[in-house]
Amino acid sequence: MCEERRAKLEEIAEEVRRCTRCPLHERRTKAVPGEGDPCATVMLVGEAPGYHEDLQGRPFVGAAGKLLNEMLGIAGLSRGEVFITNVVKCRPPGNRDPREEEVKACKPFLLAQLEVIRPAIVVCLGRHSTRLFFELAGLKFSSILRVRGGVRKVRILGMNLMLLPTLHPAAALYNPRLRGLLESDFRLLGSLISGGQSGLERWLGR
Ligand code: URA
Repeated sequence: MCEERRAKLEEIAEEVRRCTRCPLHERRTKAVPGEGDPCATVMLVGEAPGYHEDLQGRPFVGAAGKLLNEMLGIAGLSRGEVFITNVVKCRPPGNRDPREEEVKACKPFLLAQLEVIRPAIVVCLGRHSTRLFFELAGLKFSSILRVRGGVRKVRILGMNLMLLPTLHPAAALYNPRLRGLLESDFRLLGSLISGGQSGLERWLGR
């Protein structure tokens, strides 16, 4: 089953690498489709590739990625066990926020990845990812600081899953208070996938 999923994810990745649906393709070095376990329970969705990601074609390999790896450790997870991707797969110039039309153009890739992986939990890293998943779930988004750390049971694409919105690791890099909040959200993630497993499976109908 996982090999079949891996092949499907590779097809999606190839489409991303060839994509010209929005102007971000013009300045990219490499597109960043995402990577990880095709059968992951946890999918993490960031905002968009930065400088290092654009050079390497891999998500979260810069300073924010280093912090993300530490956070995964707090949840008892390694990078190989999760799937990591972004709302937008090509780097916006100067790391500006992705534009609405770029998010819209890239959305089918994220939805296709979600349908293949069928994760139990989606961790939304930052406000762009959270806003998009709240919209998909029909939830009202206010601000990331207000909604972070609260688990929401939702249905997206006919799938039961849990959303865990949290801060973007880049926002927490140089701010100890925000780092503390990020840590507490990843501790919660750890408890969801270990202690909370039976409740999780009941909700997911698995
Ligand atoms: N920030 C993101 O949102 N995604 C990455 O892949 C790297 C930094």
